[in-house]
Amino acid sequence: MCSAVEWTFNEHEFNPARQMSHQLKRALVTGGAGFIGSHIVDALISDGCQVTVLDNLSTGSDLNLAAAMDQITFYNGDIRDRQMLEKAVEDCDVIFHLAAMVSVPQTIDDPVESALINEMGTLYVLEAARKKNIRRVVFSSSCAVYGDTPQLPKIESMPLNPCSPYAVQKRTAERYMRLGCELYGLETISLRYFNVYGPRQDPSSPYSGVISIFMKMALGNQSPVIYGDGNQSRDFIYVADVVAANLLAATSASAKGEIVNIGTGSSIGINQLWDLICSFSGLTIKPQHQPARPGDIYASVADTRHAKSLLGFNIDYPFETGLALTYQWYQKEQKSGHR
Ligand code: NAD
Ligand code: UD1
Repeated sequence: MCSAVEWTFNEHEFNPARQMSHQLKRALVTGGAGFIGSHIVDALISDGCQVTVLDNLSTGSDLNLAAAMDQITFYNGDIRDRQMLEKAVEDCDVIFHLAAMVSVPQTIDDPVESALINEMGTLYVLEAARKKNIRRVVFSSSCAVYGDTPQLPKIESMPLNPCSPYAVQKRTAERYMRLGCELYGLETISLRYFNVYGPRQDPSSPYSGVISIFMKMALGNQSPVIYGDGNQSRDFIYVADVVAANLLAATSASAKGEIVNIGTGSSIGINQLWDLICSFSGLTIKPQHQPARPGDIYASVADTRHAKSLLGFNIDYPFETGLALTYQWYQKEQKSGHR
């Protein structure tokens, strides 16, 4: 059981790069004003790297970059603005490509626009990398590509069954990453994140990640909606661990279009997740149930062996630690009235 008093979230100590030195001189982070991207930006800065961010602030926020803004070059624009993209990528060693339409239901509502961002946008990033001789592209893919196949845990080599536009788009982008290496000699690597959570995840839209929504509901004493029976499960990974995986991927010996799961190897059900949040925040609020979302995956958990062997990646934040840190952050934000 997590204890909120044992772990205190401190922005200044939240530095996954602290035990690593990556010698990256200059990096572009697309989607760097977003939840995960902004933490990568912070880690790169504290590692002495010069950082450029390209983000259209569609779901990201300049608040996420408040501490970093005077140390980075910020382009407020779309990855599909090819001129801006080429300017932003100039002289970089590596691109961390995170900009995307990230919500599965939103891509179901808008399959064409999401494909233009998630597929074409990724192709533009690769083309800019090719044109400007960028050494490496680290791509944020998703475990959504596995779909609802029965085999658990999900292993990188297993057959895929992407069952939403989002999943198809991420799979297509992974293939482009591979081709970027095979046809043009770019170093590329795709990280298949499982469900990422932590400070700065925006809870404000119905498309937001479940932990951010549940945090907002718990702090507002409100009842959350659980879609389906609530026994669907996810492998939740704390954002600092995902940042560490990105930094390892940027400097790993091999980057030939490999695909690597980034998860913890354990999962938790959505009902159980709400019970856990209630138990450490002292609440007894019953959730409301609504029908399962179309395109929703039932069970998801990562096989983590490839991440260990290829990247030397290990989890530093067990779920209960990460959840307590996350709760504290939302609590602090609520008190400060920042968002
Ligand atoms: P996020 O919405 O906070 O970040 C995405 C960022 O991209 C935002 O800042 C947004 O403004 C920006 N963006 C969107 N479209 C853009 C465009 N056309 N041009 C420029 N910028 C654009 O989401 P996140 O959770 O930080 O996700 C980051 C990446 O990780 C995404 O590629 C997502 O698909 C992937 N991912 C996330 C999770 C998760 O659980 N959060 C899991 C698997 C994969
Ligand atoms: C999330 C990410 C997606 C990523 C994928 C990897 C977001 C918004 N989506 O999708 O980018 O590629 O993980 O697995 O970050 N749920 C509720 N109530 C709510 C919200 C959600 O019951 O209020 C349920 C959903 O139906 C789902 C589960 O919680 O079963 C997780 O939903 P969500 O956080 O949206 O994540 P994914 O759809 O898994």
